[in-house]
Amino acid sequence: FEVSWDAAAAEKGGWPSFMAKEVAEEPEAVANTIRGRVRDGAVVIPELDGLDDLFTGINRIIITACGTASYAGLVGKYALEHWARIPVDVELAHEFRYRDPVIGADTLVVSISQSGETMDTLMAVKYARERGARTLSICNTQGATIPRESDAVVYTHAGPEVAVASTKAFVAQITALLLLGLHVGRVRGSLEDGAASVAELEALPAKLAHVLESEQGHVAQLAGWMADTRSVLFLGRHVGYPIALEGALKLKEISYIHAEGFAAGELKHGPIALIEPGQPVFVIVPSPRHSALIHAKVVSNIQEIRARGARVIVVAEEGDAAVLPFADEVIRIPLAGAFFEPILAVIPLQIFAMALATAKGLDVDQPRNLAKSVTVE
Ligand code: AGP
Repeated sequence: FEVSWDAAAAEKGGWPSFMAKEVAEEPEAVANTIRGRVRDGAVVIPELDGLDDLFTGINRIIITACGTASYAGLVGKYALEHWARIPVDVELAHEFRYRDPVIGADTLVVSISQSGETMDTLMAVKYARERGARTLSICNTQGATIPRESDAVVYTHAGPEVAVASTKAFVAQITALLLLGLHVGRVRGSLEDGAASVAELEALPAKLAHVLESEQGHVAQLAGWMADTRSVLFLGRHVGYPIALEGALKLKEISYIHAEGFAAGELKHGPIALIEPGQPVFVIVPSPRHSALIHAKVVSNIQEIRARGARVIVVAEEGDAAVLPFADEVIRIPLAGAFFEPILAVIPLQIFAMALATAKGLDVDQPRNLAKSVTVE
């Protein structure tokens, strides 16, 4: 009798892939990122103690990142502008430093990087510093180069991420950006009802665990049915828009299926021409409790694509019945505040990409042509 021991399998802790393990770790990644950053019902980030002037002495923020991290940045833009009442732009790091941007001492450049070693993002941070901007990084790797090159750092505590496709780091990045938005809003005196947002933050890990438990089987089954699909579209509005972009990137990256994410409002400006009978379209539907208007617009987008024969898969909050008449499949997520919802909505899209890649017999952890950390420009 011989026991075979495989180090890689042991590291996966019984999961079929690192990606599967890392998706399962998402509730913990979010909980660990929040831990120690709530004091007396308010968000206080200890690493930013004594650094209030980083946020009060500026009149704009530029968020810079690549790939998945840039989509976290887009969610962060919406939240920061809402809570901190300061203009925020999101720039792909590799575009930022080559286009002669207007930046200076009144600008805070926030970089986001899981690895902290992405060359494009590092060069953008250095460029910003050389031009006198203040810099803050959001990073998952202690002591990495990008945080060392920045004036301040807020670490995500997702733990090591091995799979090339980022999952738990993404939800931790959004969490860190929400913490930053609440911190900056408090420091700048613009935050209203911060306590409600803190309650939303603290409820996130349990809600994430609920989505993993309740929708994993359903989404995996859906992916199994769609293994021969040649193209998948993703639509979202407001903070659902970056989630549509992320859903498409995950699918391209590990299943090699053509996928595109759009802002739902762009449909009639071109992409609706892509809709033909049977075209699968995921639609991220925001809660009607946040904005009846935004919700109604998305439902109307669903009607438009359904009328043209699209196969509509909606991600909507529990109890939203308005989507039922027009959806082929409904994936449910728990009720959450407007800026917290994207953290829940992305989970089914990550599971979908992973299940589809698995159904195609692909290596979900190490997709072709890609490296975990892109250390060349
Ligand atoms: C995510 O699934 C990708 N592998 C990729 O887009 C990644 O997010 C990007 O390269 C940025 O990496 P970083 O967070 O380590 O800087």
